[in-house]
Amino acid sequence: MLYDDQTIMTGAKVGTMTKRNLARRQFIQFLAASPLFVGLNPHRLLAGTTSDADPGVSTSLADTLQNLVTSPEDALDVFDFQRVAEQVLPPAHYGYLATGTDGDETLHANRAAFEKWYLRALRMVDSASIDTRLELLGQELTSPIVIAPVGSQRAFHPEGELATAQAARSRDHLLILSNVTTTSIEDVIDARGGTVWFQLYPTSNWSVAEKMVKRAEKAGAPVVVLTVDLHSGSNRVTMMRYIRRDGRDCSLCHDQTRDNSWLDRKPMYWDTGATSAGFDTPSMTWDFVGRLKSITNMKVVIKGIVTAQDAESAVQHGADALIVSNHGGRAEASGWATLDSLPEVVRAVNGEIPVMIDSGFRRGTDIFKALALGANAVCIGRAYLWGLAAFGQPGVEKVLDILSAELAMVMSQMGTPTLKDIGPSSIGRH
Ligand code: FNR
Ligand code: LAC
Repeated sequence: MLYDDQTIMTGAKVGTMTKRNLARRQFIQFLAASPLFVGLNPHRLLAGTTSDADPGVSTSLADTLQNLVTSPEDALDVFDFQRVAEQVLPPAHYGYLATGTDGDETLHANRAAFEKWYLRALRMVDSASIDTRLELLGQELTSPIVIAPVGSQRAFHPEGELATAQAARSRDHLLILSNVTTTSIEDVIDARGGTVWFQLYPTSNWSVAEKMVKRAEKAGAPVVVLTVDLHSGSNRVTMMRYIRRDGRDCSLCHDQTRDNSWLDRKPMYWDTGATSAGFDTPSMTWDFVGRLKSITNMKVVIKGIVTAQDAESAVQHGADALIVSNHGGRAEASGWATLDSLPEVVRAVNGEIPVMIDSGFRRGTDIFKALALGANAVCIGRAYLWGLAAFGQPGVEKVLDILSAELAMVMSQMGTPTLKDIGPSSIGRH
Protein backbone atom coordinates (compact mmCIF):
# COMPACT_ATOMS: atom_id res chain seq x y z
CA MET A 1 0.00 0.00 0.00
CA LEU A 2 1.44 3.38 -0.91
CA TYR A 3 0.24 6.41 1.01
CA ASP A 4 1.08 9.62 -0.79
CA ASP A 5 1.48 13.03 0.83
CA GLN A 6 -1.78 14.21 -0.67
CA THR A 7 -3.73 11.48 1.07
CA ILE A 8 -2.15 12.27 4.41
CA MET A 9 -2.62 16.03 4.05
CA THR A 10 -6.32 15.76 3.27
CA GLY A 11 -6.72 13.41 6.19
CA ALA A 12 -8.87 11.10 4.10
CA LYS A 13 -6.97 8.01 5.21
CA VAL A 14 -5.42 9.19 8.45
CA GLY A 15 -8.14 7.61 10.46
CA THR A 16 -7.15 4.20 9.19
CA MET A 17 -3.44 4.63 10.00
CA THR A 18 -2.15 3.44 13.33
CA LYS A 19 0.03 5.63 15.55
CA ARG A 20 2.94 3.35 14.64
CA ASN A 21 2.39 4.00 10.95
CA LEU A 22 2.36 7.73 11.56
CA ALA A 23 5.57 7.57 13.59
CA ARG A 24 7.19 5.56 10.84
CA ARG A 25 6.01 8.04 8.26
CA GLN A 26 7.52 10.91 10.25
CA PHE A 27 10.77 8.98 10.50
CA ILE A 28 10.82 8.42 6.76
CA GLN A 29 10.18 12.09 6.09
CA PHE A 30 12.97 12.99 8.49
CA LEU A 31 15.30 10.67 6.58
CA ALA A 32 14.18 12.05 3.27
CA ALA A 33 14.95 15.59 4.42
CA SER A 34 18.40 14.68 5.71
CA PRO A 35 21.28 15.90 3.52
CA LEU A 36 22.77 12.43 3.86
CA PHE A 37 19.84 10.92 2.06
CA VAL A 38 19.63 13.27 -0.88
CA GLY A 39 17.55 11.41 -3.42
CA LEU A 40 15.86 9.15 -0.91
CA ASN A 41 12.38 8.50 -2.06
CA PRO A 42 9.86 8.31 0.81
CA HIS A 43 7.31 6.79 -1.52
CA ARG A 44 9.59 3.85 -2.18
CA LEU A 45 10.19 3.36 1.51
CA LEU A 46 6.52 3.49 2.25
CA ALA A 47 5.84 1.08 -0.55
CA GLY A 48 8.33 -1.31 1.01
CA THR A 49 10.26 -1.78 -2.19
CA THR A 50 13.59 -2.94 -0.84
CA SER A 51 16.33 -5.15 -2.16
CA ASP A 52 15.70 -8.64 -3.29
CA ALA A 53 18.80 -8.87 -5.40
CA ASP A 54 21.45 -9.86 -2.92
CA PRO A 55 20.64 -12.80 -0.72
CA GLY A 56 21.37 -12.24 2.92
CA VAL A 57 19.55 -8.96 3.22
CA SER A 58 16.18 -8.82 4.88
CA THR A 59 13.65 -7.24 2.56
CA SER A 60 10.96 -6.14 4.97
CA LEU A 61 10.18 -2.45 5.32
CA ALA A 62 10.53 -2.53 9.09
CA ASP A 63 13.99 -4.05 8.86
CA THR A 64 15.04 -1.56 6.22
CA LEU A 65 14.06 1.39 8.38
CA GLN A 66 15.50 0.01 11.57
CA ASN A 67 18.78 -0.91 9.95
CA LEU A 68 19.54 2.16 7.81
CA VAL A 69 22.83 3.55 9.07
CA THR A 70 23.40 7.28 8.88
CA SER A 71 27.19 7.19 9.11
CA PRO A 72 29.80 4.68 7.91
CA GLU A 73 30.96 4.26 11.49
CA ASP A 74 27.59 2.78 12.46
CA ALA A 75 27.81 -0.06 9.96
CA LEU A 76 28.01 -3.52 11.50
CA ASP A 77 28.61 -5.41 8.29
CA VAL A 78 28.77 -4.60 4.59
CA PHE A 79 25.05 -5.26 4.12
CA ASP A 80 24.35 -2.09 6.09
CA PHE A 81 25.76 -0.20 3.12
CA GLN A 82 23.61 -2.13 0.69
CA ARG A 83 20.44 -0.93 2.44
CA VAL A 84 21.56 2.71 2.23
CA ALA A 85 22.78 2.32 -1.37
CA GLU A 86 19.40 1.09 -2.47
CA GLN A 87 17.68 4.07 -0.91
CA VAL A 88 20.02 6.83 -2.09
CA LEU A 89 20.67 5.72 -5.67
CA PRO A 90 18.25 6.34 -8.52
CA PRO A 91 16.50 2.99 -9.06
CA ALA A 92 18.01 2.58 -12.52
CA HIS A 93 21.53 3.01 -11.14
CA TYR A 94 20.89 0.67 -8.23
CA GLY A 95 19.48 -1.82 -10.72
CA TYR A 96 22.71 -1.66 -12.72
CA LEU A 97 24.71 -2.33 -9.56
CA ALA A 98 22.52 -5.14 -8.26
CA THR A 99 21.65 -7.02 -11.41
CA GLY A 100 22.67 -10.52 -12.30
CA THR A 101 21.48 -12.11 -15.51
CA ASP A 102 18.23 -13.91 -16.42
CA GLY A 103 16.74 -14.93 -13.05
CA ASP A 104 19.94 -14.04 -11.17
CA GLU A 105 20.73 -17.75 -10.79
CA THR A 106 24.51 -17.27 -10.67
CA LEU A 107 24.24 -14.31 -8.30
CA HIS A 108 22.35 -16.47 -5.83
CA ALA A 109 24.61 -19.50 -6.36
CA ASN A 110 27.65 -17.38 -5.50
CA ARG A 111 26.27 -16.55 -2.05
CA ALA A 112 24.75 -19.99 -1.40
CA ALA A 113 28.10 -21.71 -1.99
CA PHE A 114 29.64 -20.20 1.13
CA GLU A 115 27.18 -22.16 3.24
CA LYS A 116 28.27 -25.47 1.75
CA TRP A 117 31.69 -25.11 3.32
CA TYR A 118 32.51 -25.05 7.01
CA LEU A 119 35.61 -24.00 8.93
CA ARG A 120 37.82 -26.35 10.99
CA ALA A 121 39.42 -24.31 13.75
CA LEU A 122 42.68 -25.30 15.42
CA ARG A 123 42.97 -24.32 19.10
CA MET A 124 45.97 -23.38 21.20
CA VAL A 125 47.93 -21.71 18.38
CA ASP A 126 49.58 -18.38 19.13
CA SER A 127 47.45 -16.06 16.98
CA ALA A 128 48.06 -12.84 18.88
CA SER A 129 49.62 -11.25 15.83
CA ILE A 130 47.85 -11.51 12.48
CA ASP A 131 49.80 -11.00 9.26
CA THR A 132 47.85 -10.64 6.00
CA ARG A 133 50.79 -9.64 3.80
CA LEU A 134 51.50 -11.40 0.53
CA GLU A 135 53.47 -11.06 -2.65
CA LEU A 136 51.48 -11.01 -5.88
CA LEU A 137 53.03 -10.68 -9.34
CA GLY A 138 56.06 -8.97 -7.89
CA GLN A 139 54.08 -6.55 -5.72
CA GLU A 140 54.13 -6.54 -1.92
CA LEU A 141 50.53 -6.28 -0.71
CA THR A 142 49.37 -5.73 2.85
CA SER A 143 46.08 -7.53 2.25
CA PRO A 144 44.67 -10.26 0.00
CA ILE A 145 41.49 -8.16 -0.36
CA VAL A 146 41.59 -6.55 -3.80
CA ILE A 147 39.23 -3.97 -5.31
CA ALA A 148 37.63 -5.51 -8.41
CA PRO A 149 37.27 -3.53 -11.64
CA VAL A 150 33.85 -1.91 -11.87
CA GLY A 151 32.79 0.44 -14.63
CA SER A 152 30.77 3.67 -14.50
CA GLN A 153 31.41 4.45 -10.82
CA ARG A 154 30.12 8.00 -11.12
CA ALA A 155 26.70 6.40 -11.51
CA PHE A 156 27.06 5.49 -7.84
CA HIS A 157 28.69 8.62 -6.39
CA PRO A 158 29.76 11.93 -7.94
CA GLU A 159 33.40 11.24 -7.02
CA GLY A 160 33.23 7.75 -8.54
CA GLU A 161 36.57 6.07 -9.20
CA LEU A 162 38.49 8.87 -7.47
CA ALA A 163 36.74 8.15 -4.16
CA THR A 164 37.48 4.46 -4.57
CA ALA A 165 41.12 5.16 -5.42
CA GLN A 166 41.53 7.44 -2.40
CA ALA A 167 40.06 4.74 -0.16
CA ALA A 168 42.43 2.19 -1.72
CA ARG A 169 45.26 4.57 -0.93
CA SER A 170 44.30 5.28 2.69
CA ARG A 171 43.67 1.59 3.42
CA ASP A 172 46.45 0.27 1.16
CA HIS A 173 44.59 -2.19 -1.07
CA LEU A 174 45.34 -3.23 -4.61
CA LEU A 175 42.93 -1.58 -7.06
CA ILE A 176 42.01 -2.92 -10.48
CA LEU A 177 40.61 -0.14 -12.67
CA SER A 178 37.86 -0.96 -15.14
CA ASN A 179 38.33 -0.20 -18.81
CA VAL A 180 34.88 1.44 -18.75
CA THR A 181 35.93 3.78 -15.96
CA THR A 182 34.35 7.23 -15.87
CA THR A 183 37.75 8.67 -14.81
CA SER A 184 40.98 8.29 -16.75
CA ILE A 185 43.70 5.91 -15.60
CA GLU A 186 46.12 8.82 -15.22
CA ASP A 187 43.82 10.55 -12.72
CA VAL A 188 43.06 7.33 -10.87
CA ILE A 189 46.76 6.45 -10.48
CA ASP A 190 47.29 9.94 -9.16
CA ALA A 191 44.48 9.55 -6.61
CA ARG A 192 45.68 6.06 -5.62
CA GLY A 193 49.19 7.40 -5.14
CA GLY A 194 50.61 4.19 -6.57
CA THR A 195 50.13 1.64 -9.26
CA VAL A 196 46.79 0.23 -10.28
CA TRP A 197 46.11 -2.75 -12.47
CA PHE A 198 44.24 -2.04 -15.71
CA GLN A 199 41.29 -4.21 -16.76
CA LEU A 200 40.77 -4.53 -20.52
CA TYR A 201 37.66 -4.94 -22.66
CA PRO A 202 39.51 -5.05 -25.96
CA THR A 203 36.54 -4.63 -28.36
CA SER A 204 36.57 -6.46 -31.69
CA ASN A 205 39.00 -3.91 -33.15
CA TRP A 206 42.64 -4.75 -32.38
CA SER A 207 43.89 -1.19 -32.81
CA VAL A 208 41.45 0.00 -30.12
CA ALA A 209 42.86 -2.57 -27.69
CA GLU A 210 46.43 -1.72 -28.63
CA LYS A 211 45.93 2.00 -28.01
CA MET A 212 44.35 1.44 -24.59
CA VAL A 213 46.99 -1.07 -23.49
CA LYS A 214 49.82 1.26 -24.49
CA ARG A 215 48.14 4.14 -22.71
CA ALA A 216 47.74 2.09 -19.49
CA GLU A 217 51.35 0.94 -19.64
CA LYS A 218 52.60 4.48 -20.19
CA ALA A 219 50.50 5.65 -17.23
CA GLY A 220 52.34 3.12 -15.05
CA ALA A 221 50.03 0.09 -14.76
CA PRO A 222 52.17 -3.03 -14.21
CA VAL A 223 49.40 -5.51 -15.04
CA VAL A 224 46.63 -5.77 -17.62
CA VAL A 225 43.61 -7.86 -16.65
CA LEU A 226 41.84 -9.27 -19.69
CA THR A 227 38.18 -9.96 -18.92
CA VAL A 228 37.01 -12.95 -20.95
CA ASP A 229 33.65 -13.82 -19.43
CA LEU A 230 31.42 -11.15 -20.94
CA HIS A 231 32.00 -11.26 -24.67
CA SER A 232 28.44 -11.59 -25.95
CA GLY A 233 26.29 -9.48 -23.67
CA SER A 234 23.96 -10.65 -20.92
CA ASN A 235 20.26 -10.55 -20.20
CA ARG A 236 19.97 -8.14 -17.26
CA VAL A 237 16.38 -8.63 -16.24
CA THR A 238 16.74 -7.25 -12.70
CA MET A 239 18.29 -4.07 -14.05
CA MET A 240 15.45 -3.61 -16.54
CA ARG A 241 12.88 -4.03 -13.78
CA TYR A 242 14.54 -1.30 -11.72
CA ILE A 243 14.73 0.96 -14.78
CA ARG A 244 10.98 0.56 -15.28
CA ARG A 245 10.42 1.66 -11.68
CA ASP A 246 12.53 4.79 -12.18
CA GLY A 247 10.38 7.81 -12.93
CA ARG A 248 13.32 9.91 -14.13
CA ASP A 249 13.92 10.88 -17.73
CA CYS A 250 17.20 9.09 -18.49
CA SER A 251 17.74 11.19 -21.62
CA LEU A 252 18.40 14.24 -19.41
CA CYS A 253 21.77 12.71 -18.47
CA HIS A 254 22.27 10.03 -21.11
CA ASP A 255 22.19 11.12 -24.72
CA GLN A 256 20.11 8.39 -26.31
CA THR A 257 20.06 9.86 -29.78
CA ARG A 258 23.43 8.42 -30.82
CA ASP A 259 24.61 4.79 -30.67
CA ASN A 260 28.05 5.71 -29.39
CA SER A 261 27.07 8.19 -26.71
CA TRP A 262 27.71 5.58 -23.97
CA LEU A 263 31.41 5.64 -24.87
CA ASP A 264 31.56 9.43 -24.56
CA ARG A 265 31.60 8.97 -20.78
CA LYS A 266 34.46 6.44 -20.92
CA PRO A 267 37.78 8.26 -21.26
CA MET A 268 39.85 5.16 -21.96
CA TYR A 269 38.01 4.78 -25.28
CA TRP A 270 38.38 8.39 -26.37
CA ASP A 271 40.35 8.79 -29.60
CA THR A 272 40.62 5.04 -30.09
CA GLY A 273 37.96 4.68 -32.77
CA ALA A 274 35.89 2.38 -30.53
CA THR A 275 32.21 1.96 -31.30
CA SER A 276 29.40 0.48 -29.24
CA ALA A 277 28.67 -1.88 -32.11
CA GLY A 278 32.17 -3.33 -31.89
CA PHE A 279 32.23 -3.65 -28.11
CA ASP A 280 31.49 -7.38 -27.83
CA THR A 281 34.22 -9.91 -28.61
CA PRO A 282 32.48 -13.21 -29.37
CA SER A 283 35.26 -14.34 -31.70
CA MET A 284 38.13 -13.80 -29.23
CA THR A 285 40.17 -17.00 -28.68
CA TRP A 286 43.23 -17.97 -26.63
CA ASP A 287 45.56 -16.63 -29.34
CA PHE A 288 44.56 -13.18 -28.16
CA VAL A 289 46.65 -13.65 -25.00
CA GLY A 290 49.86 -14.15 -27.01
CA ARG A 291 49.01 -11.17 -29.17
CA LEU A 292 48.50 -9.05 -26.07
CA LYS A 293 51.77 -10.19 -24.56
CA SER A 294 53.58 -9.33 -27.77
CA ILE A 295 52.76 -5.61 -27.48
CA THR A 296 53.29 -5.00 -23.77
CA ASN A 297 55.66 -5.63 -20.92
CA MET A 298 52.77 -5.60 -18.48
CA LYS A 299 51.91 -8.89 -16.85
CA VAL A 300 48.70 -10.40 -18.23
CA VAL A 301 45.96 -11.70 -15.94
CA ILE A 302 42.90 -13.51 -17.29
CA LYS A 303 39.63 -12.70 -15.50
CA GLY A 304 36.57 -14.90 -15.78
CA ILE A 305 37.88 -18.48 -15.61
CA VAL A 306 35.62 -21.14 -14.07
CA THR A 307 36.90 -24.48 -15.41
CA ALA A 308 40.05 -26.59 -15.15
CA GLN A 309 40.18 -26.74 -18.96
CA ASP A 310 40.38 -22.96 -19.29
CA ALA A 311 42.80 -22.71 -16.37
CA GLU A 312 45.17 -25.05 -18.24
CA SER A 313 44.75 -23.03 -21.44
CA ALA A 314 45.49 -19.80 -19.57
CA VAL A 315 48.75 -21.26 -18.24
CA GLN A 316 49.69 -22.68 -21.67
CA HIS A 317 49.10 -19.32 -23.35
CA GLY A 318 51.35 -17.49 -20.94
CA ALA A 319 48.92 -15.90 -18.48
CA ASP A 320 50.74 -14.58 -15.43
CA ALA A 321 47.75 -15.12 -13.13
CA LEU A 322 44.04 -15.73 -13.40
CA ILE A 323 40.90 -14.64 -11.65
CA VAL A 324 38.20 -17.23 -11.05
CA SER A 325 35.14 -15.11 -11.73
CA ASN A 326 31.64 -15.26 -13.12
CA HIS A 327 31.46 -11.46 -13.15
CA GLY A 328 29.51 -11.38 -9.91
CA GLY A 329 26.74 -13.42 -11.55
CA ARG A 330 26.43 -10.90 -14.40
CA ALA A 331 27.62 -13.06 -17.30
CA GLU A 332 25.80 -16.34 -18.09
CA ALA A 333 23.16 -17.76 -15.75
CA SER A 334 25.22 -20.87 -15.07
CA GLY A 335 24.01 -21.30 -11.51
CA TRP A 336 27.59 -22.28 -10.67
CA ALA A 337 29.36 -20.44 -7.85
CA THR A 338 32.97 -19.38 -8.21
CA LEU A 339 33.75 -20.89 -4.80
CA ASP A 340 32.64 -24.25 -6.19
CA SER A 341 34.69 -23.92 -9.36
CA LEU A 342 37.79 -22.79 -7.46
CA PRO A 343 39.06 -26.27 -6.41
CA GLU A 344 39.26 -27.64 -9.97
CA VAL A 345 40.96 -24.48 -11.19
CA VAL A 346 43.51 -24.59 -8.37
CA ARG A 347 44.21 -28.25 -9.14
CA ALA A 348 44.68 -27.53 -12.85
CA VAL A 349 47.00 -24.58 -12.27
CA ASN A 350 49.05 -26.69 -9.89
CA GLY A 351 50.86 -23.73 -8.36
CA GLU A 352 52.27 -22.45 -11.67
CA ILE A 353 50.58 -19.04 -11.46
CA PRO A 354 48.59 -17.20 -8.78
CA VAL A 355 44.85 -17.80 -8.66
CA MET A 356 42.57 -14.98 -7.55
CA ILE A 357 38.82 -15.15 -7.17
CA ASP A 358 35.74 -12.93 -6.94
CA SER A 359 31.94 -13.05 -7.03
CA GLY A 360 29.78 -12.90 -3.95
CA PHE A 361 32.36 -12.08 -1.26
CA ARG A 362 30.70 -10.18 1.59
CA ARG A 363 32.33 -11.41 4.82
CA GLY A 364 35.73 -12.23 6.27
CA THR A 365 34.76 -15.88 6.50
CA ASP A 366 33.91 -15.89 2.77
CA ILE A 367 37.41 -14.63 2.04
CA PHE A 368 38.95 -17.13 4.42
CA LYS A 369 37.14 -20.03 2.71
CA ALA A 370 38.53 -19.05 -0.70
CA LEU A 371 42.05 -18.73 0.71
CA ALA A 372 41.64 -22.18 2.28
CA LEU A 373 40.62 -23.59 -1.11
CA GLY A 374 43.80 -22.24 -2.67
CA ALA A 375 43.10 -18.69 -3.79
CA ASN A 376 45.98 -16.23 -3.39
CA ALA A 377 43.74 -13.16 -3.21
CA VAL A 378 40.06 -12.23 -3.29
CA CYS A 379 38.47 -9.35 -5.21
CA ILE A 380 35.39 -7.57 -3.97
CA GLY A 381 32.87 -5.78 -6.20
CA ARG A 382 29.42 -4.86 -4.92
CA ALA A 383 30.51 -4.69 -1.28
CA TYR A 384 32.65 -1.61 -1.91
CA LEU A 385 30.16 -0.15 -4.38
CA TRP A 386 27.53 -0.16 -1.62
CA GLY A 387 29.96 1.80 0.56
CA LEU A 388 30.73 4.17 -2.32
CA ALA A 389 27.06 4.78 -3.10
CA ALA A 390 26.15 5.29 0.54
CA PHE A 391 28.94 7.58 1.73
CA GLY A 392 31.65 8.03 -0.94
CA GLN A 393 35.28 7.52 0.06
CA PRO A 394 34.53 7.03 3.81
CA GLY A 395 32.01 4.36 2.85
CA VAL A 396 34.54 2.44 0.77
CA GLU A 397 37.08 2.81 3.58
CA LYS A 398 34.68 1.41 6.14
CA VAL A 399 33.82 -1.55 3.90
CA LEU A 400 37.54 -2.30 3.60
CA ASP A 401 37.93 -1.89 7.37
CA ILE A 402 35.03 -4.23 8.12
CA LEU A 403 36.21 -6.95 5.75
CA SER A 404 39.81 -6.63 6.96
CA ALA A 405 38.75 -6.81 10.61
CA GLU A 406 36.49 -9.79 9.92
CA LEU A 407 39.29 -11.59 8.09
CA ALA A 408 41.78 -10.89 10.88
CA MET A 409 39.32 -12.12 13.48
CA VAL A 410 38.61 -15.38 11.69
CA MET A 411 42.32 -15.95 11.03
CA SER A 412 42.98 -15.56 14.74
CA GLN A 413 40.06 -17.76 15.75
CA MET A 414 41.13 -20.43 13.29
CA GLY A 415 44.69 -20.61 14.56
CA THR A 416 46.06 -19.40 11.20
CA PRO A 417 47.97 -16.20 11.97
CA THR A 418 49.50 -15.83 8.48
CA LEU A 419 48.04 -16.44 5.03
CA LYS A 420 50.43 -19.37 4.54
CA ASP A 421 48.87 -21.12 7.55
CA ILE A 422 45.49 -21.22 5.80
CA GLY A 423 45.06 -24.41 3.79
CA PRO A 424 42.87 -27.37 2.86
CA SER A 425 42.75 -28.58 6.46
CA SER A 426 41.14 -25.27 7.46
CA ILE A 427 37.97 -26.12 5.57
CA GLY A 428 35.46 -28.91 5.03
CA ARG A 429 32.36 -29.46 2.90
CA HIS A 430 28.98 -30.28 4.38
C1 FNR B 1 31.29 -5.28 -12.61
N1 FNR B 1 32.32 -6.11 -13.02
C2 FNR B 1 33.19 -5.70 -14.00
N2 FNR B 1 34.20 -6.53 -14.39
C3 FNR B 1 35.10 -6.11 -15.31
O1 FNR B 1 36.01 -6.86 -15.64
N3 FNR B 1 34.97 -4.86 -15.86
C4 FNR B 1 33.98 -4.00 -15.54
O2 FNR B 1 33.90 -2.89 -16.04
C5 FNR B 1 33.02 -4.44 -14.59
N4 FNR B 1 31.97 -3.64 -14.26
C6 FNR B 1 31.11 -4.03 -13.27
C7 FNR B 1 30.08 -3.19 -12.88
C8 FNR B 1 29.27 -3.54 -11.82
C9 FNR B 1 28.17 -2.59 -11.40
C10 FNR B 1 29.47 -4.76 -11.14
C11 FNR B 1 28.62 -5.15 -9.96
C12 FNR B 1 30.46 -5.62 -11.54
C13 FNR B 1 32.55 -7.40 -12.34
C14 FNR B 1 33.50 -7.22 -11.15
O3 FNR B 1 34.80 -6.96 -11.57
C15 FNR B 1 33.54 -8.48 -10.27
O4 FNR B 1 33.83 -9.59 -11.07
C16 FNR B 1 32.22 -8.71 -9.54
O5 FNR B 1 31.67 -7.49 -9.10
C17 FNR B 1 32.47 -9.61 -8.34
O6 FNR B 1 31.27 -9.97 -7.75
P1 FNR B 1 30.62 -9.21 -6.50
O7 FNR B 1 31.70 -8.99 -5.48
O8 FNR B 1 30.06 -7.93 -7.01
O9 FNR B 1 29.56 -10.15 -6.06
C1 LAC C 1 29.21 -4.90 -16.24
C2 LAC C 1 30.32 -4.61 -17.20
C3 LAC C 1 30.65 -3.20 -17.38
O1 LAC C 1 29.24 -5.95 -15.61
O2 LAC C 1 31.44 -5.34 -16.88
O3 LAC C 1 28.26 -4.10 -16.17
